[in-house]
Amino acid sequence: MPPVLSGRDFLSNLDLSAAEYRSLMDTAHAMKRGEFKALKPLEGQTLAMIFEKPSLRTRTTFDVAMFQLGGHSVNLSNAEIGLGVREPVRDIAMNLERWVEGIMARVFLHSTLEELARFSHKPVINGLSDFLHPVQLLADFQTIEERFNETRGLKVSYIGDGNNMANSFVEMAVLTGVDLTIATPRGYEPNASVILHAMSRGATVHLTNDPKAAAEGANVLYTDTWVSMGQEQDAAQRRKVQDFAGFQVNPKLLELTSSDAIFLHCLPAHYGEEVVEEATLHVKSKVFDQAENRLHAQKALLYHVMGR
Ligand code: CP
Ligand code: NVA
Repeated sequence: MPPVLSGRDFLSNLDLSAAEYRSLMDTAHAMKRGEFKALKPLEGQTLAMIFEKPSLRTRTTFDVAMFQLGGHSVNLSNAEIGLGVREPVRDIAMNLERWVEGIMARVFLHSTLEELARFSHKPVINGLSDFLHPVQLLADFQTIEERFNETRGLKVSYIGDGNNMANSFVEMAVLTGVDLTIATPRGYEPNASVILHAMSRGATVHLTNDPKAAAEGANVLYTDTWVSMGQEQDAAQRRKVQDFAGFQVNPKLLELTSSDAIFLHCLPAHYGEEVVEEATLHVKSKVFDQAENRLHAQKALLYHVMGR
């Protein structure tokens, strides 16, 4: 399959049409089957990777993905490049575009990604912002498709904080047709304009404050940390029992899900908060397949965005 996103930015899952999303997922499955092994479609190409925040999975999988596709990556920590401090984001974009074929960035402010994209003629990929985590959702839906061939109508429930992961889930409801329930404590709902936009495009999204109701009969149960990177100043409030009590995935909550359900978590897990170890090690858990799929899904993304 020829690349379908050549030179395009990927800041949000909704940068994709339904057909482009399908091509990407088909390529991700093909990558996992090893069908691209002999090909080096990104030979001679370089991806710059900017990290304002820590990472295990995103950094490793993008780096390994570039290597396996025949290219290479350069890791730039914020301590070195000082986005907006040592020099303006615009200048960083206008330098990098002269040397590399793509930029992946993990940033605090989503607007930093938009600025990089505005000033770089080379494609910019969102490796997580305070607003969205779209590359994670590609791996998540690859994992969901491995269990359930058809996503349309699947009951997918996300439990916890209405954060970047929750916003990206809402966007994915447009592309996948899942029946999405987001259960958060009051005051921690996902972004209202993301929800309104997704619903105007036909997404099915239910909001609730009841984690048990969300888990009941779910085909996919998902959670993420109560405290995201960059929110450390609110940690004490978020960890207060009254805010997130009950919003924990444990074997009891997993019992409420359908018999063929899978449990997913983007990781890292904060054990004893949103999840317990018995849940990530549970027979329904696919969290380590999901982590593996970051590699396959991002190889597919890099192939489509940077391939010629
Ligand atoms: N899930 C995820 O993005 O992991 P890292 O923060 O380790 O990259
Ligand atoms: N919501 C989490 C996701 C980590 C992959 C965070 O932003 O820290």
